[in-house]
Amino acid sequence: MARKVATFLVSFFGLCLVSGGQRARAQVVDSEGHQWWQHAVFYEVYPRSFADSNNDGIGDLNGITTKLDYLKDLGVDAIWMAPCYPSPQVDFGYDVSDFEDIDPMYGTLGDFGRLVSGSCARGIRIIMDFVMNHTSDRHQWFLDSKSSRNSAYRHWYIWRDGKGPGQPPNNWLAVFGGPAWKFDPTTGQYYYHFFYPEQPDLNWRNPAVKEAMFDVTRYWYKRGVAGFRLDAVDALFEDPELRDNPLLPGTSSQGRPSMVNKYNDKLPEVHDVLKELRKVADAYGAVLIGETWTDDIDELKKYYGEHGDELQMPMDFMFTTVNKLSPPEFRRQIAMVESSGGWPVYVLGNHDITRSYDRYGDRQHNDAIAKVMAGLYLTLRGTPIMYYGEEIGMENNDPKSKEDVKDPIGKLGWPMFRGRDGERTPMQWNDDPNAGFSRATPWLPVPPSYKTHNVARELEDPESVLQLYKHLLALRHQNRALLDGDYVALNENDAKVLAYLRRYKSETVLVALNMSAVPQKVRIDLSPQNLSSATARTLLTTRRDWPKEASLRKLSLEPFEVYIAEISK
Ligand code: GLC
Repeated sequence: MARKVATFLVSFFGLCLVSGGQRARAQVVDSEGHQWWQHAVFYEVYPRSFADSNNDGIGDLNGITTKLDYLKDLGVDAIWMAPCYPSPQVDFGYDVSDFEDIDPMYGTLGDFGRLVSGSCARGIRIIMDFVMNHTSDRHQWFLDSKSSRNSAYRHWYIWRDGKGPGQPPNNWLAVFGGPAWKFDPTTGQYYYHFFYPEQPDLNWRNPAVKEAMFDVTRYWYKRGVAGFRLDAVDALFEDPELRDNPLLPGTSSQGRPSMVNKYNDKLPEVHDVLKELRKVADAYGAVLIGETWTDDIDELKKYYGEHGDELQMPMDFMFTTVNKLSPPEFRRQIAMVESSGGWPVYVLGNHDITRSYDRYGDRQHNDAIAKVMAGLYLTLRGTPIMYYGEEIGMENNDPKSKEDVKDPIGKLGWPMFRGRDGERTPMQWNDDPNAGFSRATPWLPVPPSYKTHNVARELEDPESVLQLYKHLLALRHQNRALLDGDYVALNENDAKVLAYLRRYKSETVLVALNMSAVPQKVRIDLSPQNLSSATARTLLTTRRDWPKEASLRKLSLEPFEVYIAEISK
């Protein structure tokens, strides 16, 4: 019996078997070869802002643990946590000073263990953020590296002489402003940083760096982590000759010279490292998700690996650049990703992007539009990654004055760019002060809309954004066509309604999304699919009168309606 239970746990959860004192993980594949992460819904938690259990104004791991039932009930299968490692917090955790511990502000390794086992018991996996490209300038490796030109860690980072007095080695610019080089007077050389000067880049050409970083992933796999989201993976390598980047005419929106990051971004060597990192991941049945800012489909394709041997889940950020409710543009983007041959990974937002509620919203129908966007990315072929708060229609709360800005790039870019604080505000749990996130003043303020947009209130309201998310996720989890079916675009000339089929063996589901504020009547012609006389049995709709069946010859859709139906002959 015990064995039976253990077998069930492994096949169901994949990560819960404890053998010989160590967590082991079996590759969880269904009878048709689908991997667990293909059927999973991922959810990004920004730990500073999710739930504050010790009331110091900053979220923590125990806070997340108290919300596991909520996440389970919502339909989340895997939580990706933004970094919670020790960090001086210059970039709010993306400047890691120790890869193998938890920052005391978030808790302890013991708390982490409890979060993993609590998640595991609910069939939820934990994905950590792996900040591979750089460390904090307070990491022991860097402190050692900068102490002397002969330090054992000197070549763990990228040090070079300047071109001349006061002149950096080349013209590269940091993403977060200013030159990408900082002079260090102790050893009289410059070090390279793609982001802030407090985030020196690791030298991935050094095999010792590679091994140490691969070991970091093993360390967490052994602690029950089911995979990693790879931070800034595009930027791992630099041209060994440090050639100047080509300049473009004009300046960027922040008034800096425009430049193509030809020699310090997306170098082919990235793929060699990813193949090796994947081998380590495979030994633990883990999944690798990429923060892959690709410009076109060919770049995205490369991240899957020629033989599917790199990232299982490179995120499609091109999808987030379609910033209007435009069926033709979404259709084009979906078709492109479909053509990659890989398993698509859709995101609407994250801790670096203005919330989707504001990006797509027209300020009049924002809730309805939030539902249409959910109807879209939760029914496409692929794995969705949600961002906390999206499910309740959380909006950006951008700083009102420069003094309020916490994100350093917001101070730098003010007033044109107010930084990323707005999309990182505390999760809105109820209408208590600070939205129930903390009894102390939170590190970022909640927007006034927390009174109407919060978990407690939306759980009571059958028409809330949250209820729609819950229904959609429940449907998605049990509907084979939505999980595994092909994507078939319909009515490709329609500029208002985005319609498609998901087809799996004999099961067919129709999704029709009215992306306009006007009622629409559409004719869905399924004769090419040999389904011309089919009827549509409603599975889910946002309209109040729930029609059991609908006519495909004249499908009426209310403004911003989400309509999902099962098609049968
Ligand atoms: C990634 C993170 C972002 C961070 C940057 C530097 O883009 O998502 O928040 O600032 O990497 O680590």
